Amino acid sequence: MPFVRLAGLSELEPDQGLRVELGDEEAVALIRTGDGGVHAVIDVCSHEDYPLSEGWVEDTTIECALHGSRFDLLTGEPDSPPALRPVRIFPVRVEGEDVLVDLPDDWAKLAQDL
Ligand code: FES
Repeated sequence: MPFVRLAGLSELEPDQGLRVELGDEEAVALIRTGDGGVHAVIDVCSHEDYPLSEGWVEDTTIECALHGSRFDLLTGEPDSPPALRPVRIFPVRVEGEDVLVDLPDDWAKLAQDL
């Protein structure tokens, strides 16, 4: 899985999600937390088809804006129903202004078109 650039660091507002679409079907939510960390998570809730990037960030969690399950950005695990399954998370590396995310090969190819 290669690290690919998905955004510039200055594009990320603290405690907000940024949706990065990869092709027509996949999307990653980039989240810059208040402590300066940057996290990447698949941009769809594990409960229903709703983007997590629309949610609310608190510490290192994001709360789904549709039904309120909160996901740990470090593990992907939900801490409350209705979501029961974790969401996929991806390793992030910040190099200067570039936010690089370790994506599956097929997703990385889609990211080359950004
Ligand atoms: S869609 Fe996210 S908790 Fe229901």
